[in-house]
Amino acid sequence: MAEVVVHPDPDALAADVAARFVELLADLQAGGAVPHVALTGGSIAERVHRAIARVGPGSGVDWGAVEFWWGDERYVAADSPDRNARQAREAFLDKVGAHRVHEMPASDSGLSLDEAAAAYGEEVRRDGSGAFDVLMLGLGPDGHVASLFPGNAALDVEDAIAVGVPDSPKPPPERISLTFPALNRSRAVWFLVSSAEKADAVARARADEGSVAQTPARGITGEPGATVTWFLDRAAAGEA
Ligand code: 6PG
Repeated sequence: MAEVVVHPDPDALAADVAARFVELLADLQAGGAVPHVALTGGSIAERVHRAIARVGPGSGVDWGAVEFWWGDERYVAADSPDRNARQAREAFLDKVGAHRVHEMPASDSGLSLDEAAAAYGEEVRRDGSGAFDVLMLGLGPDGHVASLFPGNAALDVEDAIAVGVPDSPKPPPERISLTFPALNRSRAVWFLVSSAEKADAVARARADEGSVAQTPARGITGEPGATVTWFLDRAAAGEA
């Protein structure tokens, strides 16, 4: 059963996620684990990243011993402001001293989109731990998560860890996304959702009935026994 946490506004949501994030990392490290986390892109994620930068230093987390991954990335040049990795580095990763940062390849890597997706899949296979301790996901108004969009062929890819998405309806068009099997190798799933324009997608994602093809967020369950938490602001919860 998913937990739903509703905050009055995006800043309160971001502050709560940041606090829980550093607490989770500290607890895992206290137990001798090397945490593996998957970040996401988008505006509420950026707010969360900035909140992590505020609480991260002095939290007791050994940021150099956390493995950072992404659920998706825009296939643009490495220095593009559209890169999820660039945004996360500027917002917090560089500030807290993270250096086990597994960026998805950029379009100036010399790889084709599909080669880049395959390369990331190999990196996850080689350097991953088999499951993310926490997977953060934003949600689109169409119910997409990562770069898995309604009706897209990438939804059906079961035999790869990452897939190239050449036709994203959300610009930029070319992206790399982890597939459902890879995303669902997660012990905790945190949906981060803000704004009234997402309320319908949240409702569709959490409804008893509905299809993954129409609302890809419905395909995210985490691994068996995983915890799933919806971090919403009132607007996204349809309470505004
Ligand atoms: C991306 C994201 C994408 C995002 C959602 C929500 O690279 O664009 O990974 O899945 O999380 O579109 O984005 P907003 O929070 O900006 O609405």
